Amino acid sequence: MAAVKTLDDLFLDTLKDIYFAEKQILKALPKMARASQSEEGKAGFTQHREETQGQIERLEQVFELIGKPARGKTCEAIQGIIAEGEEIIEEFKDSSALDAGLISSAQAVEHYEIARYGTLIEWAKQLGLKDAVPLLQQNLAEEEATDKKLTALAKGSANAKGKQAA
Ligand SMILES: [Fe+2]
Ligand SMILES: [Fe+2]
Repeated sequence: MAAVKTLDDLFLDTLKDIYFAEKQILKALPKMARASQSEEGKAGFTQHREETQGQIERLEQVFELIGKPARGKTCEAIQGIIAEGEEIIEEFKDSSALDAGLISSAQAVEHYEIARYGTLIEWAKQLGLKDAVPLLQQNLAEEEATDKKLTALAKGSANAKGKQAA
């Protein structure tokens, strides 16, 4: 009989999920930076790519803390969100609404990450993984800050610009 799974297993599975997701996001962000019509958008996506690199390293530290190899597990949710973003880039490439669309895709990514990190932090606390908590909290703080910046970008100009014909 297979061993009964516990919260430890769930924590490891979810850690692998977000590790996979962050690596996909790392690859997607340069495409979003290239596609963005505004300098602020380009700069924002480029900056978040650098942060994402650091987030991946923090996740590797968490794997080390629990004595497991850093390995991703295919996350269909993030693949779907990124695919939708690519679809927007393709379908709106000549549109003044492109940036509004890019921001909406990026916010879907951030909200996915925020959900995952919120859960992982609570489980790490439950499991007594004291050293993992601040690492995950740093990642969560960066995702939340990015989400706020995206909202500001959308409200600042991207949405209004999107109402005009290109
Ligand atoms: Fe991230
Ligand atoms: Fe993010």
